[in-house]
Amino acid sequence: MTDAPHQEPAKRDRSCLAIILAAGEGTRMRSSVPKVLHRIAGRSMLAHVLHAVRAAGADRIAVVVGPNRDDVAAEARAVAPEVEVFVQSERLGTAHAVLAARPALERGADDVMVAFADTPLVTAETFSALRVPLAEGAALAVLGFEARTPTGYGRLIPGGGKLVAIREERDASPEERSITLCNAGLMAMAGRDALSLLSTIGNANAKGEYYLTDAVALAAEKGLVVDVVLAPEAEVQGVNDRVQLAAAEADMQNRLRREVMAAGATLVAPETVFLQSDTKIGRDVIIEPNVWFGPGVTVEDDVQIRSFCHIEGAGVGKNAIIGPFARLRPGAKLGEDVHIGNFVEVKNAELAAGVKANHLAYLGDATVGAGTNVGAGTITCNYDGAFKHRTEIGANAFIGTNTSLVAPVTVGDGAYIGSGSVITENVPADALALGRGRQVVKENWAKTRRPTKA
Ligand code: UD1
Ligand code: MG
Repeated sequence: MTDAPHQEPAKRDRSCLAIILAAGEGTRMRSSVPKVLHRIAGRSMLAHVLHAVRAAGADRIAVVVGPNRDDVAAEARAVAPEVEVFVQSERLGTAHAVLAARPALERGADDVMVAFADTPLVTAETFSALRVPLAEGAALAVLGFEARTPTGYGRLIPGGGKLVAIREERDASPEERSITLCNAGLMAMAGRDALSLLSTIGNANAKGEYYLTDAVALAAEKGLVVDVVLAPEAEVQGVNDRVQLAAAEADMQNRLRREVMAAGATLVAPETVFLQSDTKIGRDVIIEPNVWFGPGVTVEDDVQIRSFCHIEGAGVGKNAIIGPFARLRPGAKLGEDVHIGNFVEVKNAELAAGVKANHLAYLGDATVGAGTNVGAGTITCNYDGAFKHRTEIGANAFIGTNTSLVAPVTVGDGAYIGSGSVITENVPADALALGRGRQVVKENWAKTRRPTKA
């Protein structure tokens, strides 16, 4: 073979259908939002699984949803427009759920992967690893893990050095229950065998459900090859309630922090920095403790982010310094070398290179030209109670401390605004604008008023 050695054979030339089961009721979430739409690192659990199966080479994806779950279907289509959505109208078990996607199965694929939308931490590498035995001739590959507490999981039952069955907890003998090698739930099936195995599965078990896991015993009886791929327990954790959601979030955060550090950023106290799946951080960025990133943030190289910043929907240019205690809201676009200091909020505003707003300011719906200095206490008064208006400030201007810029208003290049001004009219380039009461001095006034002791 002449192909690049790092490329998985499974990924290279085999077609792959992924079936994602997303019909979970999720009642233990106590939520009006379906379980699989709850977010981890800013992305729904369903979206995490869609991204992972895609990256593992799934060229077709079927998502199985519960009845009247247009919201789940819409999320699937928003993430992966090519998905086919199928409805499982009655919850009769995991095999029954997979067969809800029968039309997709009937069209055939070399590999069929089955994933659960409430198991969001499984990586693309693990899905790819599940496909490898299929490329080598196996009919089934099951994802197994060593469980610290196996209660509730299906057990992988060995026989003659092979996997011969998966036994659900409720159906297992005491001896089988002592097995700690468990089924993660995910499975890859050879497309040529998938439909015949799935259609043969019955429901004679403690729950009266059609168990996907019974495919193992059926395949073993037919003499087909069944393989087990092992994954770390943390990766296959499922989410059924808010406590498990928080546990999955914590693991995902650790993964994202490691990725950011591997790409060349310094996190002084990684456990206190919170990232989203789409956060982009450049090289030699230094992030001090206690920083929150919301969705849609890009930070270019050599930026310093000091402690206690809250940043979402913002772009930060190379070499900028942000914080401590800064808030960047959606639409904040900061050029190179911009300095944003403590208690400064920026929203829907473009700050060109070298702009400084170092203390106590609000810049909303604004444009600020290169090199302009925004003094402490400056406020863009962007909202009149009904509408938002823009403030346009030119380059190399100087906005004195405690200026209120009543939008819509423009300040020209190189203009200078005296401290404490309320600016309601446009200021031309290079002008001085003062919008405040004149100072009055009364000589000796204080002295004559000073109380004297009797
Ligand atoms: C399943 C496995 C078990 C494994 C465990 C890992 C089966 C029979 N058992 O058990 O071996 O150890 O996962 O977490 O597969 N679903 C549907 N429709 C249904 C039933 C289930 O869409 O009719 C979906 C659920 O929403 C869930 C997934 O399939 O995402 C697994 O179902 P669940 O009922 O949680 O199975 P477990 O009993 O946990
Ligand atoms: Mg489960």
